[in-house]
Amino acid sequence: MKKQAKKLTEVRIGVIGVGNMGTSHIANIERGLIKRARLTAICDIVPSKMDRYGDKYLKFTDSRALIRSGEVDAVMVETPHYDHTTIGIDALTQGIHTLVEKPISVHKADCERLIAAHKDKKVVFSAMFNQRTDPHYIKLREIIKSGQLGEITRVNWIITTWFRPQAYYDGGGWRATWKGEGGGVLLNQCPHQLDLMQWLFGMPKKVRAFVGIGKYHNIEVDDMVTAYLEYPNGATGVFVTTTGEAPGTNRLEVCGDRGKIVVEDGKITWTRNTVGQKEFLQTAQSMFGTPETWKIEIPANGNGPQHVGILQNFVDAILDGTPLIAPAEEGINSVELGTSMLFSSFKDKTVELPLDGKAYEKMLKGLIKNSTFKKTVKEVKMADMSASFTKA
Ligand SMILES: NC(=O)c1ccc[n+]([C@@H]2O[C@H](COP(=O)([O-])OP(=O)(O)OC[C@H]3O[C@@H](n4cnc5c(N)ncnc54)[C@H](O)[C@@H]3O)[C@@H](O)[C@H]2O)c1
Repeated sequence: MKKQAKKLTEVRIGVIGVGNMGTSHIANIERGLIKRARLTAICDIVPSKMDRYGDKYLKFTDSRALIRSGEVDAVMVETPHYDHTTIGIDALTQGIHTLVEKPISVHKADCERLIAAHKDKKVVFSAMFNQRTDPHYIKLREIIKSGQLGEITRVNWIITTWFRPQAYYDGGGWRATWKGEGGGVLLNQCPHQLDLMQWLFGMPKKVRAFVGIGKYHNIEVDDMVTAYLEYPNGATGVFVTTTGEAPGTNRLEVCGDRGKIVVEDGKITWTRNTVGQKEFLQTAQSMFGTPETWKIEIPANGNGPQHVGILQNFVDAILDGTPLIAPAEEGINSVELGTSMLFSSFKDKTVELPLDGKAYEKMLKGLIKNSTFKKTVKEVKMADMSASFTKA
């Protein structure tokens, strides 16, 4: 096993997977946006993907060679989803700090395998949950965790601003197939919101979902979801998403004893009950009274440092021991949530959490084996990744 170098003063980074997202991270490092980070090596199984970098960096077509090169302290795994598990396990067992893209793996059993490879806790293991840096969600979390909103009774997230034209799905052989991507909107776009859901509200105990498979696109995976969630305290949740609706909505509504908070259109609005709803409900003498409310607009500007923020935090965690914003271990929760929705819909039943990871893996393997979908891949130009993430 490779020994970590003595006290580092900068982190030598290798990027594995030089597609849309890998290129975008490389650009951020090249622009000097990440302090104390130096890109030393890149890797892609398609050598031409690395042509644009000339001989600025060491180039590899095999991630194992990059990981063992001695030229990197850390890697960023920017490949299609299944490889997050295999490359992540390889890097972690070689003592290389690892930042893995979302989702950390395609299904729960693979998440468990990946997490189990993180034995040496001096090795930093983070996940690219960039939306955790958005001040709207940070503020909402502060309010919930401080108890100011009181006990949560209901959450609703309509997140349909993930519109993708057919060209998006046609642009990569791995996309939108069970074998290549392992799912659709729940595995590619929504890991961000599913992660925020568990970060804000914890995990539900029950999931019942209705999922549209190729409802709007010529794909074999999910592109429409309506899910009902039930939390241990009895709170309910509804999660709605699709990549086929324009214009989309991004509205997160959270109801608690002390009122209702809505995050929408870049604003956080708290309609605050001056008396708790539970107390008012039990003590009010009039038949149709409601608690008096104050409408408060809570300041939260911009969308935060996003990818740059997570990468800088990863580097700071390696060099200074700064706590991670998004420890990769927590990435299992968004995978469990999303795949529970798929499982519930395919099995046409309510799923009790924790999800049976082996049963889900078996179902997924069946979907891969029985797939008759013929994918047509069309050449599309490299995407502007700043348009790839939804804003609060
Ligand atoms: N955090 C975000 O905001 C965000 C946004 C978009 C995509 N992503 C994630 O980034 C990852 C990559 O997505 P993308 O859109 O860049 O895909 P992409 O298809 O554009 O790029 C993937 C690249 O990986 C290469 N590759 C495949 N297998 C490899 C392997 N074994 N070793 C080395 N290279 C390999 C491919 O040749 C390709 O160049 C996915 O996990 C995706 O979900 C994250």
